Amino acid sequence: MTLLTLKQQFKTELADQYENIELSSLLSILFEHITGWNQINQVVNKDENLTQSNVDAFQNALTALKEGRPIQYITGKAWFMGNELMVNENVLIPRPETEELVDWVTEYATIIDKPLQIMDIGTGSGCIAISLKLALPNCMVAGLDISEDALEVAKENAKQLNAEISWMQENILDTTYLPNKFDIIVSNPPYIPFKENVNMQVQVKNFEPSIALFVTNEDPLIFYRTIARLGKQYLNPNGQLFFEMHYDQGKALLALFDEMGYHAELRMDMFGKDRMLRASLKARA
Ligand SMILES: C[S@@+](CC[C@H](N)C(=O)[O-])C[C@H]1O[C@@H](n2cnc3c(N)ncnc32)[C@H](O)[C@@H]1O
Repeated sequence: MTLLTLKQQFKTELADQYENIELSSLLSILFEHITGWNQINQVVNKDENLTQSNVDAFQNALTALKEGRPIQYITGKAWFMGNELMVNENVLIPRPETEELVDWVTEYATIIDKPLQIMDIGTGSGCIAISLKLALPNCMVAGLDISEDALEVAKENAKQLNAEISWMQENILDTTYLPNKFDIIVSNPPYIPFKENVNMQVQVKNFEPSIALFVTNEDPLIFYRTIARLGKQYLNPNGQLFFEMHYDQGKALLALFDEMGYHAELRMDMFGKDRMLRASLKARA
């Protein structure tokens, strides 16, 4: 069997599930993962006979893709801020909008130009914590998650990318203690109300960890409120909170932070949706 025949088979069998452009880029990633051939070599070698183990790997991948498994969980890799990260089903696949959050924090920290203490709450693959440490090597960065399995992935990623980070396993909703004070607390917490599950893509709701995605319908802002409460005790003077958020929670979040004694501002993502929030404590009268 050749790459060309496999490509045709994948395109036919996955046509209902993916747009043509998305499918082409997905196949190129998958083909490189299995054969080790980059895009040019995939064209040059398209009529080469593949080994049986490669053909088996392709057929397993095709079954997985038809079930809706995200390509990143098949290859075990995802890209974030120009770095390749290891991912598995214990961690959320890092998203491009989260790169924009990292950019915002980096912009802020660069202006302050001091060795800051930064905490990433709900670190998952470690994408935010690791990217910040790499962009701001003089800062001290810590990452916290409730999931031991997620922290295993984050630690491995930090090791591969030579990022020195302190890791903590904690349930932030139960924690009243953090090991020190921070200049920046950043978080991309779970924020999707369970009721939205019905409209979500199979790839997300059936494969990504629900603990990373969902919050109760009754209290969807619980992580923001909890972290804002902790911020009162654990932010250094002029400390900042940075969050990723659901695009339609902006108004509710501004009200929540105002009520809790913070100035807050929203920032839009590249698609023009409110997706990030920054907050700092109001000066006491
Ligand atoms: C939306 S994911 C974000 C992962 C990663 N920071 C990113 O941006 O891709 C939320 C993360 O919060 C963690 N989490 C969920 N509940 C938590 C809790 N009660 N305490 C601490 N972490 C929690 C999940 O395990 C998950 O890794």
